Amino acid sequence: MGETIRPHGGALINRVIEGEKRTSQLEHAATLYSLNIDAWTISDLDLIGVGAFSPLTGFLGEQDYHSVVERMRLKDGTVWSIPITLAVEPQIASDFAIGQEVALVGAQDGIIYGIIEVQSIYHVDQRKEALNVFKTDDEAHPGVQKLFSRPSTYIGGPIQVLNRPKPDKFEEFYYDPAVTRQLFSEKGWKSVVGFQTRNPVHRAHEYIQKSAMEIVDALFLNPLVGETKSDDISADVRMRSYLVLLENYYPKDRVFLGVFPAAMRYAGPREAIFHAMVRKNYGCTHFIVGRDHAGVGDYYGTYEAQEIFSNFTPEELGITPLFFEHSFFCTKCANMASSKTCPHGKEDHLHLSGTKVRALLRDGQCPPPQFTRPEVAEVLIQGMKDPEYQV
Ligand code: ADX
Repeated sequence: MGETIRPHGGALINRVIEGEKRTSQLEHAATLYSLNIDAWTISDLDLIGVGAFSPLTGFLGEQDYHSVVERMRLKDGTVWSIPITLAVEPQIASDFAIGQEVALVGAQDGIIYGIIEVQSIYHVDQRKEALNVFKTDDEAHPGVQKLFSRPSTYIGGPIQVLNRPKPDKFEEFYYDPAVTRQLFSEKGWKSVVGFQTRNPVHRAHEYIQKSAMEIVDALFLNPLVGETKSDDISADVRMRSYLVLLENYYPKDRVFLGVFPAAMRYAGPREAIFHAMVRKNYGCTHFIVGRDHAGVGDYYGTYEAQEIFSNFTPEELGITPLFFEHSFFCTKCANMASSKTCPHGKEDHLHLSGTKVRALLRDGQCPPPQFTRPEVAEVLIQGMKDPEYQV
């Protein structure tokens, strides 16, 4: 069995209550004030509970919040770049007392997902949060839009998870950090590179993954399957595309597919740091950051999500980021390449915009195999025609 990397902050948090304690806490929760929470907050709650967001033990209180927004650290100095917050209507929050426990209940299904012990109630300047976290307050930015749609009063405090959200599909690819750590260790993998994606895996993704695989023991393909913006390809179709890709082009014993059930923030550089810390909690020793990681539109520079890592020491990060240049297929090299490896000009490089690829797929046409593996293109075409299509 191999050693696994230390979780962020030193210990893997576990706030999922089980057994008799769970039964009694559920009875107790039924007597508490019920606060409705949406799917996004249920996902944050669950990821805190299972330790994916270690060292967080709950939603951020006021001091941690300001520290994260202003200096990308919790108040104790631990690196943390994205505020994980619980927004509450001010009229509701004003009735809460410090120390009070509140039940967190799914707005759609009435399920009691957990309990928060309110330790902090505070009002924030969301414009400042947007400018610091997203580097813009433009409401056309999906992360900013989401932020401004929520109340600007937050409550913070430790949580307990009493019910886990049930995935409707691909349940077998949901692994908690404690489980992936155990599995990586059992496989004897000493170094594992994590790959975040919210897209189908195209040839450029495959190229950077396989370049990384040359120097580590294994790849953890960890697609984000929580809330994404509406024009991103659905998680369901993507999952089917990953399965055919792995089946046909990856060594089975060196790749592990498991989902990351978090919401996408589109916070570019700050989200790259967050993604890396979380993958460390899942047991990765390395993390891939390519071009415009977690970016959207033109809000971030191509390599800003790489540059931000220089604000922290390797010890503070714990996980090693692997940076990749913009990669493409070069017709002269007849290979995947980047400006680091290819001497030819742009005219020899295959460039297809996301819009162009979507248009091709909608017309039932495969993009060139130098861009997407045909098996993947087939799944995407079928997925566009019929979202229920099975491979
Ligand atoms: S993300 O929002 O999840 O980052 P995406 O799924 O497109 O978006 O990217 C996954 C990872 O691949 C990110 O690290 C991104 O920087 C990297 N990446 C995507 N396309 C390229 C490319 N053509 N060249 C190099 N890296 C890329």
